[in-house]
Amino acid sequence: MDFTQSREANKRLHDMVPGGAHTYAKGEDQYPEGMAPVIARGRGAHVWDVDGNEFVEYGSGLRSVSLGHAHPAVTAAVTAQLGLGSNFVRPAAIEIEAAHRFLTTVPTAEMVKFAKNGSDVTTAAVRLARAATGRTLVALCGDQPFFSTDDWFIGTTAMPAGIPSATTDQIVTFPYGDLPAVERLFTDHSGQIACLVLEAATQTDPPAGYLEGLRELCTRHGVVLVFDEMITGFRWSAAGAQGVYGVTPDLSTFGKAIGNGFAVSALAGRRDLMELGGLRDDRERVFLLSTTHGAETHSLAAAMAVMDTYVTEGIAEQLHALGARLAAGVRAVAANAGVGDHVVVRGRHSNLVFATLDADGRPSQEYRTLFLRQLVLGGIIGPSFVVSSALTHEDIDRTVDVVAGACAVYRRALDAGDPSEFTGGRPVRPVFRPYS
Ligand SMILES: Cc1ncc(COP(=O)(O)O)c(C=O)c1O
Repeated sequence: MDFTQSREANKRLHDMVPGGAHTYAKGEDQYPEGMAPVIARGRGAHVWDVDGNEFVEYGSGLRSVSLGHAHPAVTAAVTAQLGLGSNFVRPAAIEIEAAHRFLTTVPTAEMVKFAKNGSDVTTAAVRLARAATGRTLVALCGDQPFFSTDDWFIGTTAMPAGIPSATTDQIVTFPYGDLPAVERLFTDHSGQIACLVLEAATQTDPPAGYLEGLRELCTRHGVVLVFDEMITGFRWSAAGAQGVYGVTPDLSTFGKAIGNGFAVSALAGRRDLMELGGLRDDRERVFLLSTTHGAETHSLAAAMAVMDTYVTEGIAEQLHALGARLAAGVRAVAANAGVGDHVVVRGRHSNLVFATLDADGRPSQEYRTLFLRQLVLGGIIGPSFVVSSALTHEDIDRTVDVVAGACAVYRRALDAGDPSEFTGGRPVRPVFRPYS
């Protein structure tokens, strides 16, 4: 496989764009050295890079492209809308339809407001909760990786440069799955916590009674319960994790797969909270999500086509079935190669990730590099095994074959006691690190 054009393109990107990509998770440092393809085009679950290499892709668009690239229904809806104009001086009629469709898809929500990025709506949820409660502290699930690009969250990561400590002083964290810990937090900071922000589930289902317990605690302590449904939305079910587990948050935030790669996100929730940003309320107003591009019409058209397609084609079920086939295949070939304890597939079938563990069972960036390198060489690209519904059984079976080959190399590295000979250069690096 030749990466000459991609290497040149990566150099040019680094010359002009800090980090060489507009999202750190897409960075060259996330891929084995000299093997970070720059993409020319995509169709379905396949992408082609600027050298002409073809890949089966996982985790498309940072999990946003759940129907596959250039999905015909989405493309048709967007194309039809383009001829009608994209942004007007007053709301477009499509805003009514899109809001209605969303509230039908996520029936636990009473109102919705659209924006462009997940970060915008999660940050808006925090502002709304603070205004509604008159409190400043935000309780954040400390075990979950990402909530927003805004200061209140990034200040808590390993890259807090440029963010005043006064901002992060307002954040307290709690561990996932531990109700007594949340109760302690609420007691220790009695009357000070505005909201509790978490993903309702990540890799496994929540412990029995956990979400119900959070709901009860938040209600009892007057804390706004916020579910970040950026990943769970349109992957757990079209109605998100709240649609699966039957616990209704006060506010929830959607993005990613709702637009199949088009920029659209949503803040949804209780009418009495959301109306603080409205014009029918006597309370002090909240400046809630007012952006130039918030209701740009082709993204709303894309979102409506996505929501339709989820229903008409049973997409959530398809994602689960495809992921189940992949997880079973990968587990079988890993066990067969004697690396079943080292190449570990985790997560809900619609949202699979893989861990690469060293001889002592510890997560290893070097072994991850080895594994990713073998995948890329075999025509598979993905920092995860997050499926799109465009994958065919043939794609999945081909992936499993490539993983089988990768596992054989993994075994050789474990036996040699040193993966460095198989990484093809420096190891991949975590996104959040204070120095490059
Ligand atoms: C759980 C979660 N919340 C929020 C966000 C932020 O979304 P965006 O990148 O659209 O701003 C992300 C992005 O990866 C996410 O994974």
